[in-house]
Amino acid sequence: STSQSDTLRTPIVAVLGHVDHGKTSLLDKIRGSAVSEGEAGAITQHIGATAVPLDTVSQMAGALVKPDDFDLPGLLFIDTPGHHSFSTLRSRGGALADIAILVVDVNDGFQPQTEEAIDILKRTGTPFIVAANKVDTTPGWNPQQGEPIQKSLEKQSKRAKSKLDESLYQLIGELSDKGFSSDFYWRVQNFQKNIGVVPVSALTGEGIPDLLGVLMGLSQRYMKDEMAIDVAGPGYGTVLEVKEERGFGATLDVVLYDGTIHAGDTIVVGGANEPIVTEVRALLQPRPNAEIRTEKRFDKVDEVRAAAGVKIAAPDLEDAMAGAPVRVVGDRDVDEVIREVEAELADIEVTTEEEGVVVKADTLGSLEAMANALQEAEVPILRAEVGDIAPRDVAVASTAREPEHKVILGFNVDVLSNAQDELDKGEVKLFDDDVIYQLVEEYEEFVDEMKR
Ligand code: GTP
Ligand code: MG
Repeated sequence: STSQSDTLRTPIVAVLGHVDHGKTSLLDKIRGSAVSEGEAGAITQHIGATAVPLDTVSQMAGALVKPDDFDLPGLLFIDTPGHHSFSTLRSRGGALADIAILVVDVNDGFQPQTEEAIDILKRTGTPFIVAANKVDTTPGWNPQQGEPIQKSLEKQSKRAKSKLDESLYQLIGELSDKGFSSDFYWRVQNFQKNIGVVPVSALTGEGIPDLLGVLMGLSQRYMKDEMAIDVAGPGYGTVLEVKEERGFGATLDVVLYDGTIHAGDTIVVGGANEPIVTEVRALLQPRPNAEIRTEKRFDKVDEVRAAAGVKIAAPDLEDAMAGAPVRVVGDRDVDEVIREVEAELADIEVTTEEEGVVVKADTLGSLEAMANALQEAEVPILRAEVGDIAPRDVAVASTAREPEHKVILGFNVDVLSNAQDELDKGEVKLFDDDVIYQLVEEYEEFVDEMKR
């Protein structure tokens, strides 16, 4: 089936969930890496991508994924930081992910970012399964390294099993409160109607064969039409991160979700001021099973096909924005592609008013999420931009008429040192946080204090 897997696109799988519930650890177990251990405070700061080939999937899944049954090339996993909004994960008009794994710590249950994730999955109509993680922490658990979960359950004491069941039923209840009917995955007949819950441990690997089996089955069964796209056409992607690389200058970490990109291609990228038109100097692909976020040894390649994570080196990328679209021009008119990119950016643009607060965020997606949260809280926005806090932002905030609006709300951004000098003068107040709802809450408390 080689010719078939050449034409089917790799499904994109987003891994979502609350901080520390084990997203990166799960991926580490699957790809045989230790990315989580290398993270400062074991906290993921940026969205990442890892291509896991079918061979690896079937090795991990044993009898549950037989390569001959599948003509998908593998899975492209997107790791997300639990403490961020992940709405950066958008593609032309929708969600970047074809399917998602919602990771929930069985002991901790639903937490704020679990809820945030579920709301976004609901809004974007993304099908998902739930990985009920850390089953190994159940009191009296008898670990069964890498085994399918039902095999492992056979080896557990009655007490451990009923303890775990208690947590799992609580989870199923919480999903139901959110309007999703769910059940243990082995009881689910129709995954489009019912959410499958897969008990797993990222530590011992128990249940991971099941998780991969369900993912592959779902992708093959329900999404084959979407995967059978013309990946030979011009490439479409989303910027995950803009990064300085020695010898290359500013580069883009991109998820290519459609089509093909070649070295030398003319591309259009969403920039802070206007769309950037440039030519691909080099395409750097992480090795299979490597996380693009931490990979040090990239292979220089001539072309990359969707879906894949790829680092793009090209001139003039300094002003590119995380969350922005990337498009290969191909044999189209470049102006037409510029207009497309502008239209896509306009879709994300935030409504600003004559009077209000200044908002800065690290990506387009988080800016959009901030704007939505502020709109709900009825906080007007004077200016909203992607980027670190600069002196100009302080100057703009100081022009607000109302004292409660002489404020900058910074989501996951740094304060440039010369801007700090301006802030120290005390006219403009800065709120910064890397959790959106906390940021909005802090600001609302400040306004309440002020009005008292
Ligand atoms: P963020 O990226 O910060 O949102 O966190 P995360 O969801 O990626 O969590 P991460 O994988 O970094 O794991 C957090 C902590 O939980 C680490 O100390 C892991 O070792 C631990 N952990 C993750 N999965 C398991 C598990 O299945 N069992 C046990 N016992 N510990 C786990
Ligand atoms: Mg993580």
